[in-house]
Amino acid sequence: CGIVGYVGSSSVTSRPLEVVVAGLRRLEYRGYDSAGVALVAPGTDHVIAAKKAGKLVNLIEELEARPLPDATAAIGHTRWATHGAPTDVNAHPHLADGGKLAIIHNGIVENYALLKLELVAEGVEFLSETDTEVAAHLVARAYDACGDLTEAMRQVVLRLEGAFTLLAVHADQPDLVVGARHDSPLVVGLGEGENFLGSDVAAFIAYTREALELGQDEIVTLTSSSVTVTDFAGNVVEPKRFTVDWDAEAAEKGGFASFMDKEIHDQPKAVADTLLGRTDLKGRLALDDLRIDEAVLRSIDKIIVVACGTAAYSGHVAKYAIEHWCRIPVEVELAHEFRYRDPVVNEKTLVVAVTQSGETMDTLMAVRHAREQGAKVISIVNTHGSTIPRESDAVLYTHAGPEIAVASTKAFLAQITAAYLLGLYLAQLRGNKFPDEIDEILDELRAMPAKIQEVLDRGARVREIARWMADTSSVLFLGRHVGFPVALEGALKLKELAYIHAEGFAAGELKHGPIALIEPGQPVFVIVPSPRGRDSLHAKVISNIQEIRARGARTLVIAEDGDEAVVPYADEVFWVPQAPTLLAPLLTVVPLQLFACELSTARGLDVDQPRNLAKSVTVE
Ligand code: G6P
Repeated sequence: CGIVGYVGSSSVTSRPLEVVVAGLRRLEYRGYDSAGVALVAPGTDHVIAAKKAGKLVNLIEELEARPLPDATAAIGHTRWATHGAPTDVNAHPHLADGGKLAIIHNGIVENYALLKLELVAEGVEFLSETDTEVAAHLVARAYDACGDLTEAMRQVVLRLEGAFTLLAVHADQPDLVVGARHDSPLVVGLGEGENFLGSDVAAFIAYTREALELGQDEIVTLTSSSVTVTDFAGNVVEPKRFTVDWDAEAAEKGGFASFMDKEIHDQPKAVADTLLGRTDLKGRLALDDLRIDEAVLRSIDKIIVVACGTAAYSGHVAKYAIEHWCRIPVEVELAHEFRYRDPVVNEKTLVVAVTQSGETMDTLMAVRHAREQGAKVISIVNTHGSTIPRESDAVLYTHAGPEIAVASTKAFLAQITAAYLLGLYLAQLRGNKFPDEIDEILDELRAMPAKIQEVLDRGARVREIARWMADTSSVLFLGRHVGFPVALEGALKLKELAYIHAEGFAAGELKHGPIALIEPGQPVFVIVPSPRGRDSLHAKVISNIQEIRARGARTLVIAEDGDEAVVPYADEVFWVPQAPTLLAPLLTVVPLQLFACELSTARGLDVDQPRNLAKSVTVE
């Protein structure tokens, strides 16, 4: 879910609502099942709320049809449903105390059923099926008893189990928003005569770039002129201040039809920016936030990459590169599987957590589990001020800029790039590679942004094919070596964006089962490795293409410039510039992203906000 809060002293009393709705627009990628706002104004004895099921536009239409009165403080919410269907009633905010208090929530209150029983027994009437309404009634009752909204929030958070960010406003306190966070994101934006809260900085970037990080288990008391942060025990804490290094424009579509399209085209820059400034004063590769002794990194004997979704596929690419360069065994594990299978992790294990948002709950829990077992954690993260980098021993930031479209594209390329840098850093540190070898690979890497641009410039053909294939019901993707995770990502993009059955396979696995799926006309993308690469990889993939072609498949081949050997077996070839085998995923995935984006658009779907998904999944 996305959360926004605002309090200001300006005489422009429409500003709170404007700020909150603008913030929700920018956070809508976090959930779009329903949306709502609550306003507080001096002199009224209840909060003013509006909420609507469906996308934010429904709420905006409602606000236009029935404008809300003036206000000084506001909170807003865009929901990704967990408890209770996405209806008007279940939308946030939830009101309590006869409409005097409003609450919004991101996360899950796991013990809500018990708390609800207690409240029902005391005569409280519930309107919704949500876990959140429990928190609303509890805070309202605590406030009635103590008359202090921060204190009321503190008493209640101590009773809640699960993960939550909560924001509350009260009709008696027109210059106040109180927020609490436990295992769920919340950042503060600092203005003049006004202050902001958001699930991430995108919520308020149009108004300020000055921000405060909130830590785990902290409560923020926000007025128009002050920000006070306390822990759950009531002690004042000094939050960490930071300046956001991108501006509001970076979160706009900039002339593209969709954020997805724009972000695919941002990729040369995302890779180039991630490569920038990575060497220290002695010319060595450096991590951003290194809180581990390098001697410890020299002694590790195993790496486990934990991540979810697209980020996990970047981890697969990392495995091939890091094992090859560093000679350390690398495992890749879906973060939500990792902690529940009692993995073998100890002081000699390095866990690499890859995440765009830095907030994915599954990944956060894997990080915590790894550290409890004594492992060191390095995270590869795109979003500053998020939780996972704070809880890691070192961080390597990707510089992809804000990624708004729900399905990941530019963050994926930036994650792969960062993984290469991490591999080279470890290889250098552990003496597996000499500086001149590293320089050579870095030179190749620095040439990649221009090559990615070339793939984009050649995109017209793959888009055309995508439009022709708008009615396709199934597409398969095959790859070997680093082409395998690219195949998996190509399939995921198509599922996410176009709701088409799609599967990625290791090309060599085909003959062990999936080949039974091939029937005349079945479209199959094949990612062909460079013929200049090692061993007989290229020849093996050519054989795989022949095997499916012989059974009637329609072959859509991604191959390197000059690889004439593929031509006789391909119904269509999408050419990419030559690159070293390990770096090729940065190129070969791009036509697959364009394909999924265009096919989704041709089917009339919302490519930026696919059904049922959310960009930042902050529940387990
Ligand atoms: C969600 C998104 C995916 C993303 C995954 C991991 O499922 O819909 O696009 O790849 O989370 O997100 P992260 O922020 O951890 O990279």
